[in-house]
Amino acid sequence: MKEKFVVTPWEVKGNIDYDKLIKEFGIQPVGDLPSIFNTNLLFRRKKIFAQRDFSRILDAIKQKKPFVMMTGLMPTGKFHIGHAILAQQFVFYQNLGAKLYIAVADIEAYHAREQSLEESREKAIDQYITNYIALGLKPKNCEIYFQSQRSKDGKKSNAYYRLQNLLARHATYNEFRAVYGEITPGKMLSGLLQASDMLHPQLQEFEGPVPVVVPVGVDQDPHIRLARDLASRIKTPKFIQISSTYHFFVPGLNGGKMSSSDPTSFIALTDDEKTVAKKVMKYAFSGGQPTIEEHRKKGGNPDIDVSYQWLTFFEEDDNKLKRIYEDYKSGKLLTGELKQILIEKLTKFLKDHQQKREKAKDQIDKFLFK
Ligand code: TRP
Repeated sequence: MKEKFVVTPWEVKGNIDYDKLIKEFGIQPVGDLPSIFNTNLLFRRKKIFAQRDFSRILDAIKQKKPFVMMTGLMPTGKFHIGHAILAQQFVFYQNLGAKLYIAVADIEAYHAREQSLEESREKAIDQYITNYIALGLKPKNCEIYFQSQRSKDGKKSNAYYRLQNLLARHATYNEFRAVYGEITPGKMLSGLLQASDMLHPQLQEFEGPVPVVVPVGVDQDPHIRLARDLASRIKTPKFIQISSTYHFFVPGLNGGKMSSSDPTSFIALTDDEKTVAKKVMKYAFSGGQPTIEEHRKKGGNPDIDVSYQWLTFFEEDDNKLKRIYEDYKSGKLLTGELKQILIEKLTKFLKDHQQKREKAKDQIDKFLFK
């Protein structure tokens, strides 16, 4: 029997059946893309597997017209490997010419996680923003803002909070129930603010009418559906419908979900060499056989092996990756050896990253409070 799975904005657990999700949520597979997308590992390896209205963004790219990539982060816990993979997607869009809007969801963390605004600010800067910069985010064409403090410019701030208020009339109680399950006034406000996050780039005070793409994990689709419904109902201001893409989650080290609250599930970008080796050796869920003899005879299962799965996010060389897959499957490559390949890859990446992180610390002011 298949294990039951749950994917909501508040909970992700079980063995996710992505095909079923595509059907249930009514999202479309990602079809053929222009060749420039092959330069990004997530697109090339189909880690970004579904979309809504993405063709509008492709048209903008083709016609060299402006577009916005908008996303948000909830600043709880440590910045880990899963977040880093996502950040590479932002950097890719920025290099393609998109303007980036990134919301720090401190109001949402206040309501949904009972975290103070001060704590959110600290974590957002020390963990998320510093790492984004180290991963290649540039200050030009990039606005990072806090939900509790949209802009120094009063006109811009008013427009963002005004939109949140106007959207309220176009939502129903049942929609909120569908997105949030248990509903409180605070969660309703967070939902409306998130809709304003996604829609406000199109206001006159910001970019004016432009296509906006929101790249998310599937768990966030209920938010997107709500924002799209509101966008289609409100007549003034008028909005171009939001586009979105959906990526697979990087699996947790221990085979479950990668979660900031479970240190055996992730590697943080601040982890040192020793910790990386220890965590991978001890916790990485293996698709290997219980004994070496058996492994040599029957081979391992790379499709469930987390070390291999992580390499699909980190090893850029397609041929090398293919060889690792085949050697593991045939039993030529042992689990310990596969883990060693991952450890080397991660260590090299993190060493380089941690140096960049130190330099990134003086850059933060260039990104905030525009
Ligand atoms: N709800 C998102 C999370 O839990 C954060 C978020 C806030 C967001 N505003 C957004 C995501 C706008 C995408 C677009 O992480």
